[in-house]
Amino acid sequence: MTVSGEILDQHWLDSRARPFIHIRGVTKQFGGFTAVNNVDLDIYQGELFCLLGGSGCGKTTLLRMLAGFETPTSGVISIDGVDMNDVPPYERPVNMMFQSYALFPHMNVENNVAYGLKRDGLSKEEIRLRVGEMLAMVELSDFSKRKPHQLSGGQKQRVALARSLVKRPKVLLLDEPLGALDKRLREQTQFELMNIQDRLGVTFVVVTHDQEEAMTLSTRIAVMDAGQFVQVGTPTEIYEYPATRRVADFIGSINMFEGRVTENDADHVVVDSTDNALRFFMDHGASVSDGSRVWVAVRPEKIRLSRTPPPNEANQIEGVVQDIGYLGNVSIYRVRLESGMIVEVTVPNQTRPRDGKHAAGWEDRVFLDWEASSAILLTR
Ligand SMILES: Nc1ncnc2c1ncn2[C@@H]1O[C@H](COP(=O)(O)OP(=O)(O)OP(=O)(O)O)[C@@H](O)[C@H]1O
Ligand SMILES: [Mg+2]
Repeated sequence: MTVSGEILDQHWLDSRARPFIHIRGVTKQFGGFTAVNNVDLDIYQGELFCLLGGSGCGKTTLLRMLAGFETPTSGVISIDGVDMNDVPPYERPVNMMFQSYALFPHMNVENNVAYGLKRDGLSKEEIRLRVGEMLAMVELSDFSKRKPHQLSGGQKQRVALARSLVKRPKVLLLDEPLGALDKRLREQTQFELMNIQDRLGVTFVVVTHDQEEAMTLSTRIAVMDAGQFVQVGTPTEIYEYPATRRVADFIGSINMFEGRVTENDADHVVVDSTDNALRFFMDHGASVSDGSRVWVAVRPEKIRLSRTPPPNEANQIEGVVQDIGYLGNVSIYRVRLESGMIVEVTVPNQTRPRDGKHAAGWEDRVFLDWEASSAILLTR
């Protein structure tokens, strides 16, 4: 059962487990331009794997190579132990749901879903059963006679999903499946997608440029940049232990202090900030050298905000509240340091603000601090 995106069977940690999708040294060039640059990746059966990255970083190209619509310039892709090099798209155990999931406008919902099965020559009875089962799963049984233009965006999206799943592919490739939906429907559909995936055990590879979506949906995420993987890991790993400043910045918000390593021991690291008169203490070792240039990164929710100085001196910052964003469940404080740097702090609204007053007000002097284990040390 899936609780969050992270399933309990973490096959990628088991050295004996056989990956379902095996990608080695795959490159795709269009003319002189390298869209996908020598990537390696293993995806396991039943995973909901997300490819995450900015526009043009090569997500769709990689998906199209898995589907067989593009041929790698070099490298190997195998699925379920079979080398896909000479296997045409229609013979692969894969189905792809495109970025713009075009439904057939003149066909009703039922016929849209049945299309692929009819083409495969299945019996009328078998088609009726399988389409019925699929529509029940995406909760569209009552809409089977409607045409696409009589459906909402979310309903159309579910028809497209039913149409991709009805042929029972072992792998479903989804390119920005929720891109056309508004935020609320998107969140609801994310959970439906996770449920369906959980029930069918199909391996999903989902492309998105929405980091929140990737965090919610996936067992693992590959963060892509300029045709390469910058980091591959579970949502927690990517969020709590980003490998680079770019990943840290891309996933969630983060405060970044540049500095130099002044103490470097097996159990702690001390960093002196370059632009602020600040000293940071980390209670864990890191592979850095004395005097090297590093970045101390702290997420806004890891920082405490108080009106009086906190007891411990390390990781302590003084500043002035410049801005408060009240989001209901949390408030976001933007605190200006003496150097002019802005630090973002998220404060949960555990109690209702009294008389409309918040933990601190505009232009109030405040103190920020965090646990020695909370900061991330980045070297690139
Ligand atoms: N057929 C093609 N010919 C030439 N260049 C291409 C072709 N297809 C893709 N590209 C280029 O390869 C790069 C990667 O494209 P791709 O479609 O994989 O990006 P993407 O990560 O899916 O982006 P988006 O989030 O905008 O959909 C882009 O710079 C794109 O212009
Ligand atoms: Mg794309």
